[in-house]
Amino acid sequence: MATRLEQAAMPTPTPMRILHSRAALQAELQALPRPPVLVPTMGHLHAGHLALVARARALGGPVVASVFVNRPQFGAGEDFDRYPRDLERDAELLRQAGCDLLFAPGEADMYPVAQTFQVRPDPQLASQLEGAARPGHFDAVATVVLKLLQLTRPSAAVFGKKDYQQWLVVRAMVEQFALGVRIEGVDTVREDDGLAMSSRNSYLSPAQRAQAPQLQRALRALAARLPGCAEARGLQALEADAQQQLRAQGWDPDYISVRRRADLQPAGDEDLAAAGRLVVLGAARLGSTRLLDNLEI
Ligand code: PAJ
Repeated sequence: MATRLEQAAMPTPTPMRILHSRAALQAELQALPRPPVLVPTMGHLHAGHLALVARARALGGPVVASVFVNRPQFGAGEDFDRYPRDLERDAELLRQAGCDLLFAPGEADMYPVAQTFQVRPDPQLASQLEGAARPGHFDAVATVVLKLLQLTRPSAAVFGKKDYQQWLVVRAMVEQFALGVRIEGVDTVREDDGLAMSSRNSYLSPAQRAQAPQLQRALRALAARLPGCAEARGLQALEADAQQQLRAQGWDPDYISVRRRADLQPAGDEDLAAAGRLVVLGAARLGSTRLLDNLEI
Protein backbone atom coordinates (compact mmCIF):
# COMPACT_ATOMS: atom_id res chain seq x y z
CA MET A 1 0.00 0.00 0.00
CA ALA A 2 1.31 3.42 -0.88
CA THR A 3 1.44 5.88 1.99
CA ARG A 4 -0.53 9.11 1.67
CA LEU A 5 2.71 10.94 1.00
CA GLU A 6 3.65 8.50 -1.75
CA GLN A 7 0.17 8.80 -3.20
CA ALA A 8 0.48 12.56 -3.22
CA ALA A 9 3.79 12.27 -5.06
CA MET A 10 2.38 9.98 -7.74
CA PRO A 11 1.51 11.73 -10.95
CA THR A 12 -2.26 11.96 -11.23
CA PRO A 13 -3.21 10.15 -14.42
CA THR A 14 -4.66 12.81 -16.67
CA PRO A 15 -7.79 11.54 -18.40
CA MET A 16 -7.56 10.91 -22.13
CA ARG A 17 -8.61 13.96 -24.12
CA ILE A 18 -10.71 13.53 -27.28
CA LEU A 19 -10.08 16.07 -30.01
CA HIS A 20 -12.23 16.45 -33.07
CA SER A 21 -10.61 19.43 -34.75
CA ARG A 22 -7.10 20.30 -35.88
CA ALA A 23 -7.09 23.42 -33.69
CA ALA A 24 -7.99 21.45 -30.55
CA LEU A 25 -5.33 18.86 -31.40
CA GLN A 26 -2.65 21.52 -31.88
CA ALA A 27 -3.46 23.09 -28.50
CA GLU A 28 -3.11 19.73 -26.73
CA LEU A 29 0.07 18.80 -28.58
CA GLN A 30 1.71 22.06 -27.51
CA ALA A 31 1.08 21.17 -23.88
CA LEU A 32 2.85 17.80 -24.17
CA PRO A 33 6.26 17.47 -22.52
CA ARG A 34 7.69 15.56 -25.52
CA PRO A 35 6.68 14.69 -29.06
CA PRO A 36 4.01 11.99 -29.03
CA VAL A 37 3.97 8.49 -30.48
CA LEU A 38 1.21 8.12 -33.07
CA VAL A 39 -1.08 5.10 -33.54
CA PRO A 40 -3.25 5.64 -36.64
CA THR A 41 -6.43 3.56 -36.87
CA MET A 42 -9.85 3.49 -38.51
CA GLY A 43 -11.53 2.50 -35.25
CA HIS A 44 -13.70 -0.47 -34.29
CA LEU A 45 -10.74 -1.36 -32.13
CA HIS A 46 -9.65 -4.82 -31.07
CA ALA A 47 -6.68 -6.30 -29.20
CA GLY A 48 -4.47 -5.89 -32.29
CA HIS A 49 -4.90 -2.11 -32.20
CA LEU A 50 -4.37 -2.10 -28.43
CA ALA A 51 -1.07 -3.95 -28.89
CA LEU A 52 0.03 -0.97 -31.01
CA VAL A 53 -0.93 1.38 -28.16
CA ALA A 54 1.06 -0.80 -25.73
CA ARG A 55 4.10 -0.58 -28.03
CA ALA A 56 3.64 3.17 -28.32
CA ARG A 57 3.65 3.44 -24.52
CA ALA A 58 6.76 1.27 -24.32
CA LEU A 59 8.46 3.75 -26.66
CA GLY A 60 7.98 6.33 -23.94
CA GLY A 61 5.77 8.78 -25.71
CA PRO A 62 2.62 10.44 -24.76
CA VAL A 63 0.36 8.36 -27.02
CA VAL A 64 -1.87 9.92 -29.65
CA ALA A 65 -4.25 7.52 -31.37
CA SER A 66 -6.27 8.60 -34.36
CA VAL A 67 -9.61 7.17 -35.40
CA PHE A 68 -10.59 8.18 -38.91
CA VAL A 69 -12.29 6.06 -41.56
CA ASN A 70 -10.45 7.36 -44.59
CA ARG A 71 -12.92 7.38 -47.48
CA PRO A 72 -10.35 7.73 -50.33
CA GLN A 73 -8.61 4.46 -49.46
CA PHE A 74 -11.84 2.51 -50.07
CA GLY A 75 -12.56 1.58 -53.67
CA ALA A 76 -15.94 1.93 -55.35
CA GLY A 77 -18.15 -0.88 -54.09
CA GLU A 78 -15.95 -1.52 -51.02
CA ASP A 79 -17.17 -1.31 -47.45
CA PHE A 80 -16.72 2.41 -46.58
CA ASP A 81 -20.42 2.89 -45.82
CA ARG A 82 -20.80 -0.21 -43.68
CA TYR A 83 -17.38 0.01 -41.99
CA PRO A 84 -18.20 -0.37 -38.27
CA ARG A 85 -18.02 2.89 -36.31
CA ASP A 86 -18.38 3.20 -32.52
CA LEU A 87 -16.31 6.08 -31.21
CA GLU A 88 -17.57 5.80 -27.64
CA ARG A 89 -16.44 2.18 -27.37
CA ASP A 90 -13.13 2.98 -29.09
CA ALA A 91 -12.50 5.88 -26.70
CA GLU A 92 -13.13 3.70 -23.67
CA LEU A 93 -10.75 0.98 -24.92
CA LEU A 94 -8.07 3.56 -25.70
CA ARG A 95 -8.48 5.19 -22.32
CA GLN A 96 -8.06 1.83 -20.56
CA ALA A 97 -5.00 1.10 -22.70
CA GLY A 98 -3.33 4.28 -21.45
CA CYS A 99 -3.71 6.46 -24.52
CA ASP A 100 -3.28 10.20 -23.79
CA LEU A 101 -4.97 11.87 -26.76
CA LEU A 102 -7.55 10.59 -29.20
CA PHE A 103 -7.77 12.50 -32.46
CA ALA A 104 -11.08 11.71 -34.15
CA PRO A 105 -11.49 14.25 -36.92
CA GLY A 106 -14.41 14.57 -39.28
CA GLU A 107 -13.88 14.49 -43.03
CA ALA A 108 -13.93 18.30 -43.18
CA ASP A 109 -11.04 18.40 -40.69
CA MET A 110 -8.89 15.92 -42.58
CA TYR A 111 -9.87 17.23 -46.00
CA PRO A 112 -10.87 20.91 -45.62
CA VAL A 113 -10.15 21.36 -49.32
CA ALA A 114 -10.27 18.70 -52.02
CA GLN A 115 -7.10 16.62 -51.75
CA THR A 116 -5.68 17.30 -55.21
CA PHE A 117 -2.09 16.52 -54.15
CA GLN A 118 -1.39 12.84 -53.48
CA VAL A 119 1.51 10.71 -52.36
CA ARG A 120 2.19 8.12 -55.05
CA PRO A 121 4.18 5.24 -53.58
CA ASP A 122 6.68 3.36 -55.72
CA PRO A 123 4.56 1.14 -58.01
CA GLN A 124 7.17 -1.64 -57.65
CA LEU A 125 6.09 -1.91 -54.03
CA ALA A 126 2.54 -0.63 -54.06
CA SER A 127 0.90 -1.72 -57.34
CA GLN A 128 1.11 -5.45 -56.64
CA LEU A 129 -0.68 -7.70 -54.13
CA GLU A 130 -3.12 -5.40 -52.24
CA GLY A 131 -2.37 -2.58 -54.68
CA ALA A 132 -3.36 -4.75 -57.65
CA ALA A 133 -6.58 -5.85 -55.97
CA ARG A 134 -7.34 -2.30 -54.74
CA PRO A 135 -6.06 0.25 -57.29
CA GLY A 136 -5.16 3.60 -55.72
CA HIS A 137 -5.47 2.18 -52.20
CA PHE A 138 -1.89 2.87 -51.14
CA ASP A 139 -1.88 6.36 -52.67
CA ALA A 140 -4.76 7.18 -50.33
CA VAL A 141 -3.21 5.40 -47.34
CA ALA A 142 0.16 7.13 -47.80
CA THR A 143 -1.55 10.49 -48.26
CA VAL A 144 -3.62 10.24 -45.08
CA VAL A 145 -0.68 8.86 -43.07
CA LEU A 146 1.50 11.75 -44.26
CA LYS A 147 -1.20 14.19 -43.15
CA LEU A 148 -1.58 12.50 -39.77
CA LEU A 149 2.20 12.63 -39.28
CA GLN A 150 2.20 16.33 -40.14
CA LEU A 151 -0.71 17.07 -37.83
CA THR A 152 0.75 15.23 -34.85
CA ARG A 153 4.53 15.60 -35.44
CA PRO A 154 5.35 12.38 -33.58
CA SER A 155 8.78 10.98 -32.74
CA ALA A 156 7.49 7.54 -33.77
CA ALA A 157 4.42 5.94 -35.30
CA VAL A 158 3.27 2.35 -34.78
CA PHE A 159 1.80 0.06 -37.43
CA GLY A 160 0.71 -3.58 -37.50
CA LYS A 161 2.46 -6.20 -39.59
CA LYS A 162 -1.02 -7.61 -40.21
CA ASP A 163 -1.08 -5.08 -43.08
CA TYR A 164 2.43 -5.98 -44.14
CA GLN A 165 2.47 -4.10 -47.43
CA GLN A 166 1.01 -0.98 -45.79
CA TRP A 167 3.76 -1.11 -43.15
CA LEU A 168 6.46 -1.31 -45.86
CA VAL A 169 4.85 1.49 -47.92
CA VAL A 170 4.79 3.78 -44.86
CA ARG A 171 8.37 2.88 -43.96
CA ALA A 172 9.59 3.62 -47.48
CA MET A 173 7.65 6.90 -47.63
CA VAL A 174 9.11 8.10 -44.33
CA GLU A 175 12.60 7.16 -45.42
CA GLN A 176 12.45 8.67 -48.92
CA PHE A 177 10.84 11.92 -47.78
CA ALA A 178 13.22 12.08 -44.78
CA LEU A 179 10.29 12.61 -42.44
CA GLY A 180 12.41 11.81 -39.39
CA VAL A 181 9.83 9.57 -37.72
CA ARG A 182 10.63 6.13 -36.40
CA ILE A 183 8.21 3.54 -37.84
CA GLU A 184 7.56 0.55 -35.62
CA GLY A 185 6.00 -2.74 -36.75
CA VAL A 186 4.04 -4.90 -34.31
CA ASP A 187 3.42 -8.63 -34.83
CA THR A 188 -0.10 -9.69 -35.75
CA VAL A 189 -2.38 -10.36 -32.79
CA ARG A 190 -4.54 -13.45 -33.32
CA GLU A 191 -7.63 -15.07 -31.89
CA ASP A 192 -7.08 -18.37 -30.05
CA ASP A 193 -7.81 -20.33 -33.23
CA GLY A 194 -5.20 -18.42 -35.24
CA LEU A 195 -7.46 -15.97 -37.06
CA ALA A 196 -5.76 -12.59 -37.38
CA MET A 197 -7.82 -10.00 -35.52
CA SER A 198 -9.47 -7.55 -37.88
CA SER A 199 -12.28 -5.02 -37.70
CA ARG A 200 -13.74 -6.83 -40.71
CA ASN A 201 -14.08 -10.14 -38.83
CA SER A 202 -17.36 -8.74 -37.48
CA TYR A 203 -18.84 -9.12 -41.00
CA LEU A 204 -18.49 -12.92 -40.80
CA SER A 205 -21.50 -15.16 -40.10
CA PRO A 206 -20.95 -17.75 -37.31
CA ALA A 207 -20.30 -20.44 -39.95
CA GLN A 208 -17.83 -18.20 -41.81
CA ARG A 209 -16.14 -17.24 -38.53
CA ALA A 210 -15.58 -20.95 -37.80
CA GLN A 211 -14.05 -21.35 -41.25
CA ALA A 212 -11.95 -18.16 -41.23
CA PRO A 213 -8.76 -19.66 -39.66
CA GLN A 214 -8.37 -21.70 -42.87
CA LEU A 215 -6.59 -18.73 -44.46
CA GLN A 216 -3.87 -18.76 -41.81
CA ARG A 217 -3.68 -22.56 -42.03
CA ALA A 218 -3.17 -22.39 -45.81
CA LEU A 219 -0.26 -19.97 -45.28
CA ARG A 220 1.22 -22.26 -42.63
CA ALA A 221 0.84 -25.34 -44.85
CA LEU A 222 2.64 -23.53 -47.68
CA ALA A 223 5.41 -22.41 -45.31
CA ALA A 224 5.85 -26.00 -44.13
CA ARG A 225 6.49 -27.08 -47.73
CA LEU A 226 9.19 -24.45 -48.39
CA PRO A 227 12.15 -26.47 -47.06
CA GLY A 228 11.44 -29.00 -49.80
CA CYS A 229 11.58 -26.29 -52.46
CA ALA A 230 15.16 -25.56 -53.52
CA GLU A 231 14.39 -23.33 -56.52
CA ALA A 232 12.24 -20.24 -56.62
CA ARG A 233 10.50 -21.38 -59.80
CA GLY A 234 9.02 -24.23 -57.74
CA LEU A 235 7.18 -21.67 -55.61
CA GLN A 236 4.48 -20.98 -58.15
CA ALA A 237 3.20 -24.55 -57.89
CA LEU A 238 3.09 -24.30 -54.09
CA GLU A 239 1.24 -20.98 -54.28
CA ALA A 240 -1.23 -22.42 -56.78
CA ASP A 241 -1.78 -25.46 -54.51
CA ALA A 242 -2.49 -23.21 -51.51
CA GLN A 243 -5.02 -21.21 -53.54
CA GLN A 244 -6.61 -24.41 -54.80
CA GLN A 245 -6.89 -25.71 -51.24
CA LEU A 246 -8.73 -22.53 -50.24
CA ARG A 247 -11.00 -22.66 -53.30
CA ALA A 248 -11.94 -26.24 -52.40
CA GLN A 249 -12.98 -24.93 -48.98
CA GLY A 250 -15.25 -22.31 -50.53
CA TRP A 251 -12.92 -19.29 -50.58
CA ASP A 252 -12.23 -16.96 -53.48
CA PRO A 253 -8.49 -16.18 -53.19
CA ASP A 254 -6.96 -12.99 -54.68
CA TYR A 255 -3.38 -14.12 -54.10
CA ILE A 256 -1.18 -16.36 -51.99
CA SER A 257 2.40 -15.36 -52.62
CA VAL A 258 5.87 -15.93 -51.19
CA ARG A 259 7.80 -12.66 -51.26
CA ARG A 260 10.94 -11.04 -49.95
CA ARG A 261 10.29 -9.32 -46.64
CA ALA A 262 12.46 -6.34 -47.55
CA ASP A 263 10.66 -5.18 -50.70
CA LEU A 264 7.87 -7.70 -51.43
CA GLN A 265 9.49 -8.73 -54.70
CA PRO A 266 9.20 -12.39 -55.76
CA ALA A 267 11.62 -14.64 -53.91
CA GLY A 268 14.80 -15.71 -55.69
CA ASP A 269 16.86 -18.88 -55.17
CA GLU A 270 19.22 -17.05 -52.78
CA ASP A 271 16.28 -15.89 -50.65
CA LEU A 272 15.06 -19.46 -50.31
CA ALA A 273 18.50 -20.59 -49.19
CA ALA A 274 18.89 -17.89 -46.51
CA ALA A 275 16.92 -17.79 -43.27
CA GLY A 276 14.54 -15.01 -42.27
CA ARG A 277 14.12 -13.34 -45.64
CA LEU A 278 10.63 -14.35 -46.72
CA VAL A 279 7.02 -13.63 -45.96
CA VAL A 280 4.00 -15.44 -47.37
CA LEU A 281 1.07 -13.12 -47.97
CA GLY A 282 -2.52 -14.01 -48.68
CA ALA A 283 -5.83 -12.32 -49.39
CA ALA A 284 -9.06 -14.18 -50.00
CA ARG A 285 -12.78 -13.60 -49.91
CA LEU A 286 -15.11 -15.64 -47.76
CA GLY A 287 -18.59 -14.75 -48.94
CA SER A 288 -18.48 -10.98 -49.30
CA THR A 289 -15.76 -10.48 -46.67
CA ARG A 290 -12.19 -10.05 -47.86
CA LEU A 291 -9.63 -11.25 -45.32
CA LEU A 292 -5.91 -10.62 -45.29
CA ASP A 293 -3.10 -12.42 -43.52
CA ASN A 294 0.62 -13.14 -43.74
CA LEU A 295 3.34 -15.18 -42.11
CA GLU A 296 7.02 -14.31 -41.83
CA ILE A 297 9.12 -17.39 -42.57
P1 PAJ B 1 -6.89 -0.17 -39.36
O1 PAJ B 1 -7.31 -1.26 -40.27
O2 PAJ B 1 -7.82 0.32 -38.31
O3 PAJ B 1 -5.56 -0.62 -38.66
C1 PAJ B 1 -4.86 0.27 -37.83
C2 PAJ B 1 -3.53 -0.36 -37.46
O4 PAJ B 1 -3.77 -1.55 -36.70
C3 PAJ B 1 -2.72 -0.80 -38.69
O5 PAJ B 1 -1.35 -0.46 -38.50
C4 PAJ B 1 -2.94 -2.29 -38.73
O6 PAJ B 1 -1.91 -3.01 -39.36
C5 PAJ B 1 -3.01 -2.60 -37.25
N1 PAJ B 1 -3.67 -3.90 -37.01
C6 PAJ B 1 -4.89 -4.31 -37.46
N2 PAJ B 1 -5.15 -5.58 -37.08
C7 PAJ B 1 -4.06 -5.98 -36.36
C8 PAJ B 1 -3.70 -7.20 -35.69
N3 PAJ B 1 -4.50 -8.26 -35.68
N4 PAJ B 1 -2.50 -7.26 -35.06
C9 PAJ B 1 -1.66 -6.20 -35.07
N5 PAJ B 1 -1.94 -5.01 -35.68
C10 PAJ B 1 -3.12 -4.91 -36.31
O7 PAJ B 1 -4.69 0.24 -41.32
C11 PAJ B 1 -5.51 1.13 -41.20
O8 PAJ B 1 -6.48 1.14 -40.22
C12 PAJ B 1 -5.53 2.35 -42.12
O9 PAJ B 1 -5.11 1.97 -43.39
C13 PAJ B 1 -4.69 3.54 -41.58
C14 PAJ B 1 -3.21 3.18 -41.45
C15 PAJ B 1 -5.24 4.03 -40.23
C16 PAJ B 1 -4.79 4.72 -42.59
O10 PAJ B 1 -6.11 5.09 -42.81
